[in-house]
Amino acid sequence: MQIGGFDMKRPVMLAPMEEVSDRSFRKICKRFGADVVYTEFISAEALRRQVDKSFRKMEFDPDEAPVVVQIFGNSEDAMAEAAAIAADVRPAWIDINFGCPAKKVAGKGAGAALLKEPEKMAAITAAVVKAVPVPVTVKTRLGWDRESINILDIIPRLEDAGIQALAIHGRTRSEMYRGVADWDWIARVKERATVPVIANGDIWCAADAREMYRHTGADAIMIGRGAIGNPFIFRQTKELLDHGRISSQPDFHDRIEVAIEHLRLSVHYKGERYGTLEMRRHYATYLKGLPKVSKVRDKLVREDSWQQVIEILRAYEEECEGYEREGKIRDYAEFLNDHSKRLVLR
Ligand SMILES: Cc1cc2nc3c(=O)[nH]c(=O)nc-3n(C[C@H](O)[C@H](O)[C@H](O)COP(=O)(O)O)c2cc1C
Repeated sequence: MQIGGFDMKRPVMLAPMEEVSDRSFRKICKRFGADVVYTEFISAEALRRQVDKSFRKMEFDPDEAPVVVQIFGNSEDAMAEAAAIAADVRPAWIDINFGCPAKKVAGKGAGAALLKEPEKMAAITAAVVKAVPVPVTVKTRLGWDRESINILDIIPRLEDAGIQALAIHGRTRSEMYRGVADWDWIARVKERATVPVIANGDIWCAADAREMYRHTGADAIMIGRGAIGNPFIFRQTKELLDHGRISSQPDFHDRIEVAIEHLRLSVHYKGERYGTLEMRRHYATYLKGLPKVSKVRDKLVREDSWQQVIEILRAYEEECEGYEREGKIRDYAEFLNDHSKRLVLR
């Protein structure tokens, strides 16, 4: 599939995720094989007002590329201006967020709220396309709620506005993150669209990723929550797609090693205090399913010193060696299957 100068075969992308898809996590996902990584969404108004924190969200190193900058907002002017600012960092392309269901975004007429205003959605898109020399894509949902699914009507409008691809999360705004993403609907989106379709929603393991391709016929897939604490999913997905098998499962050593690497990168980019604080939400996912994990997690989320965090993780790794000898470590793949079974078996 082609977006601008990027020609990719069955690409696997890291989804934009607020407070997750930052520079440190993007680097790790990239290292494990993500073909394209997205930034967290960035407020158009904040870029316009030159808010430092928002500018930092757009920073990336050449080794992360291709990086996509995602912006959100509710007016043509603000979005066009923000897109021009974002284009200066030379992203692979700019993505417009028309899918965020959160009150702080949709409540202000941006994100998924624009699904209720297809004309405005198209006008914002056209304004952004006109404002930048890089390709523009859109990420959205199926509609506002099940009763008003309007994505098939929206697609030609966005195509006319000049998008070069469409990322579709197979849920409505009202569904938030509940239930199961509707892959049948993603398949219908793919049938209707003339631009490449990036399929998103409930890919929890490599088998899901392959199934997403098969079920929807999409041109690309995008992984969000399934990558949190499990960046290995990119390597495994690439292996499964390219060679039909997965060479290895990460064990607790690998998972703790990556958690530590993630922490070091986080401290490197955000400084000791924030870098350590912001990692707190990640430990549970890196360690999920390991024995007696709640005790160590409680310790980790109270610790302010990153060096101490590493010590706690190393001590826990040793503890896990003991559990392993006693045969108490459950296969990580089983945990992922617990999440994904509903999809793979349906
Ligand atoms: C913590 C979190 C933050 C998110 N932030 C964004 C965001 O900034 N922009 C966006 O388009 N979607 C955002 N999403 C939605 C994801 O990109 C993705 O569409 C959704 O999680 C479904 O995919 P998944 O099942 O692979 O997670 C976020 C999701 C989560 C869980």
